[in-house]
Amino acid sequence: MIIPKSIKEIVILTGAGISAESGIRTFRDQNGLWENHDIMEVASPGGFERNPEVVYEFYNLRRKQLLSVEVSPNLGHISLSRLQDLFKGRVSLVTQNVDDLHERSGFKNILHMHGELLQMRCVKSGKVFSTKEPFDERTNCPCCLQAGNLRPNIVWFGERPFHMKEIEDLLSSCDLFISIGTSGEVYPAAMFVNLAKENSHCVTIEVNKEVTQVSHNFDYLISGKASEELPKLIDKILNL
Ligand code: OAD
Repeated sequence: MIIPKSIKEIVILTGAGISAESGIRTFRDQNGLWENHDIMEVASPGGFERNPEVVYEFYNLRRKQLLSVEVSPNLGHISLSRLQDLFKGRVSLVTQNVDDLHERSGFKNILHMHGELLQMRCVKSGKVFSTKEPFDERTNCPCCLQAGNLRPNIVWFGERPFHMKEIEDLLSSCDLFISIGTSGEVYPAAMFVNLAKENSHCVTIEVNKEVTQVSHNFDYLISGKASEELPKLIDKILNL
């Protein structure tokens, strides 16, 4: 693998695979989250309209699990924070994950393109509030003081991911793009590698324990678990 010494702008994309070793299930692996659920019932505006109580329950349970003592950042998250702290240039992180494990490992200014589990949003005002507690249609909204206006601040199928303009700007100017633990099945994240490669000098690396739908688009594939492969890759980048 050849990574030029001159790199200054790194963009990292993470998916469920980086949190798998912290005890959070991925979506599409065996025993994945979607296996026991109809995606459209728990992750679409239509599903929320039809069955709000099922959707609140799904995210309340996931939030509770995220906050349980068994879940904490692993060496994959920790080595990315190390890279941000020690790299001579800029390191930006775009995550599809709705957990807060990158924050807990010390990474700063994360772009959560699919929202955050520890947030709720008022559908009337659009205001976002932090929460560690369960909430549902009976919970009073902190801004409009009415029940029935809060939803999880999660991007559902058919909705536009957050921070897209900023993400596209970062991709258009990066010289190293690393995609970690994502299946490449969900757009627009699946095409970020193509946007990065519009810079002819941008080097692209995929870290995954399996070959994905989009592996063929990358310059280099690192096959293995994020917690084992990232510490080595990050050392290599810091020693350029
Ligand atoms: P997926 O469940 O689709 O893919 C997880 C990927 O992680 C797979 O390619 C696995 O091979 C890989 N993987 C699993 N364990 C790993 C490990 N220890 N180290 C490295 N790789 C590992 O999850 P995402 O690609 O994140 O969106 O899914 C994208 C979006 O689909 C999610 O953000 C979610 C879902 O619909 C929303 O909820 C809006």
